[in-house]
Amino acid sequence: MKEFAADPIGFLWERYRKHGPIFKTNLGGPLVFMIGPEANRFVLRDHTEHFSWAQGWPKYVRLVWGDDVLVMKDGEEHRRFRQMFAPAFAHSTLTNIFEYVVDSADEYVESWIASKPDQFFYDAKTLVFEWMFSWLAGDIRRAGETRHVALKLFNDFTEIPQVRQGGWSPANFNTPESVALRRRKFGAKARLHQYFTSVAERARRQPEESVIGLLATQPVKGEDAPLTNDQIADHALLFLVTGADATAVAFTWAVYELYNHPEVRQRVREEVDRIVGNETITWKHVQQMNYLECYLKEIERMHPPLGGVRKVIEPFQFGGCTVPAGWQIRLAAIISHFLPEVFKDPERFDPDRFAAPREEDRRTPYSMIGFGAGHRQCTGKPLALVLMQAMIAKMVKDYDWVAPEGQDLTPTLYNRAVFVPKDMLRVRFSKRDRTGSGIALIEGRSSESAGLAKRPHSKSPRANEPASSTAN
Ligand code: HEM
Repeated sequence: MKEFAADPIGFLWERYRKHGPIFKTNLGGPLVFMIGPEANRFVLRDHTEHFSWAQGWPKYVRLVWGDDVLVMKDGEEHRRFRQMFAPAFAHSTLTNIFEYVVDSADEYVESWIASKPDQFFYDAKTLVFEWMFSWLAGDIRRAGETRHVALKLFNDFTEIPQVRQGGWSPANFNTPESVALRRRKFGAKARLHQYFTSVAERARRQPEESVIGLLATQPVKGEDAPLTNDQIADHALLFLVTGADATAVAFTWAVYELYNHPEVRQRVREEVDRIVGNETITWKHVQQMNYLECYLKEIERMHPPLGGVRKVIEPFQFGGCTVPAGWQIRLAAIISHFLPEVFKDPERFDPDRFAAPREEDRRTPYSMIGFGAGHRQCTGKPLALVLMQAMIAKMVKDYDWVAPEGQDLTPTLYNRAVFVPKDMLRVRFSKRDRTGSGIALIEGRSSESAGLAKRPHSKSPRANEPASSTAN
């Protein structure tokens, strides 16, 4: 357990090399890791009847969410819930949020220029929270005092007491500090829930351009009754919490990798300049940006969350092993995405691997599982992509940034689910230098020499050597 917590990536590689695509371990309960495209396909598509998503959660998570939300459902009920909440990801809601991101981007980046973030991941978390809140309940800039209160409640709600306490043991779970944190967490949840309920109630009387407005007023396909305010508020909270960390992490790495690979940033910028010119960026523009799409796929490949979790409900055989019911299964995207037989030169940051004719992901189905795959694929994927496309295109068009030296950006497990740069990323923003390409700030660095963060499983010695930088 300690070994895994200290170095999860090294732990998994060592065992994968020794045992192959399936191996057991014990992280507080009997557990099997499954790795590689065949394993992913087995669990996510071909043999789903052996696994339960709902039962894979620890008891505490069930306590937080209750039984009546999408993530606590399996089988037919799960399919029904996906359908009930599908309108949240309709084209119209994504267009609205795309416009909000582009329209509000200057406000955020100007504030980062002034504040010089030392732990950018937390700024990204606030940013993503505000995006998602606006998507759910309407433009947060018009919410007055609620804007700050909602962020504070969100931070209280997403704090994980046991992790702060240093483990999941009952002793840690019941310390006075842990109990106080939990009380704050549930209090914050209740107040956010109440707020979303009131938005749904208001929307029934007076139409609102937001996801909650849509869910409150549209008939639900295949259902006799409309969604209740409680159901809407439960899922608004669920989407907010499941989506915010993962998207903030992906966005943090996206900002960093654009700095770390000047030639990639130059190509993204050329594409944005060519397609957008002097116009305001629209979703239509972004849909023509093939290189940006490949770039974001490379972020998904290089920086995935740890992967899917399932409980085995019927014994199964895979790779010569029999796994009994009651065990937990975990898919490790962080290893699957680096298999050299699937992804050529996997340590290299190379968005072109996703462009024709290479298309390495398509050549091997189920090789990429950053958003999961199959019927349980991340519901929020279209939203996460729209948010990142809008913000990255806008930032590349109008801003520059550097990551000053002396940082440790080794991927480190955060909240037991996602990998963040260890020092959370120090970054300095400035207006784009339109006298040149802006790339002058980092001239002379190739992508090979620029790497701040290398992975523990890299063949080369671990190297977190600082990048040269001229701005601080
Ligand atoms: C870059 C950002 C994101 C990443 C990498 C990500 C990744 C994932 C992964 C790996 C899963 C589990 C799939 C499985 O176990 O089979 C998942 C599920 C889920 N995600 Fe995301 N996610 C992201 C953003 C979002 C957003 C923005 C939302 C909400 C709007 C969201 C909501 C959900 C929900 C509700 C599920 C459960 C789906 C179900 O039970 O059917 N995610 N996500």
